[in-house]
Amino acid sequence: MGNSVINSLPDYIMKKLIAGNWKMNGGINDAKTLIANIINTLSTDDSQIQTRSDILICPPFLHIPAVRHSLHSNPHIALGAQDCSIYEDGAHTGDISAAMLKDSGCSHVIIGHSERRQNNSETDDLIARKARLALDKDLMPIICVGETAQERESGEAENIVTRQIRACVPELGTFEEITIAYEPVWAIGTGKIPTPDDVTTMHSLIRRLLKEKTARPERVRILYGGSLKPDNAKILLALPNVDGGLIGGASLKAKDFLAIAAAA
Ligand code: 13P
Repeated sequence: MGNSVINSLPDYIMKKLIAGNWKMNGGINDAKTLIANIINTLSTDDSQIQTRSDILICPPFLHIPAVRHSLHSNPHIALGAQDCSIYEDGAHTGDISAAMLKDSGCSHVIIGHSERRQNNSETDDLIARKARLALDKDLMPIICVGETAQERESGEAENIVTRQIRACVPELGTFEEITIAYEPVWAIGTGKIPTPDDVTTMHSLIRRLLKEKTARPERVRILYGGSLKPDNAKILLALPNVDGGLIGGASLKAKDFLAIAAAA
């Protein structure tokens, strides 16, 4: 499934993107069960979730083929990965290239998630290189940005996100598109969320900064991520410049994930 499914038409930009980041959870059977539950629920859903939002699933690398197989019965759900190598190919033991992801049916790849920045020492420069490589292989990079608790407390949140956008987002050609995910690090997996005002401020800042990178900043979807749940989705996803969500914990339950999609 290519990017043609998502974001290829002007009206797609009006749709929210609801993306599940399964992180490093579950075995192959859990992945099969979860995707089957999502597909079954969507097939009996009368709230038209699929026509109102775009849905993306990002399983662990090893589960991508199984999820892709299940998705043959639902071509409306896009498939993505959680990372890719900074190298194109060759002697890079353990790496997975952007081209391999494309070949395995992925249309999207998450780049620069804060867990990779923190646990795998990923720098802005490395993230920019991965994003460029993903674009060159016709994958939509979902570039993650967001401040830590300490950075927010010291009043640095906007400076940090400004630095990250300037450093991590490559210059975009006329027809190149990316997605941004604003994920405050302190909100991930904690049950804490920023105030609607703080989300609005940050998303409109990101939209303004994108003008430095693309002639069409309005085409970039800016997702919110961090403790997005069925009970807060309606408020967060309705805020200006919030074009969808990147969901961790709640994406591991079909019911919760689709309740968030329905709230969009
Ligand atoms: P949670 O939804 O579990 O807070 O995770 C968010 C996230 O990191 C998505 O990439």
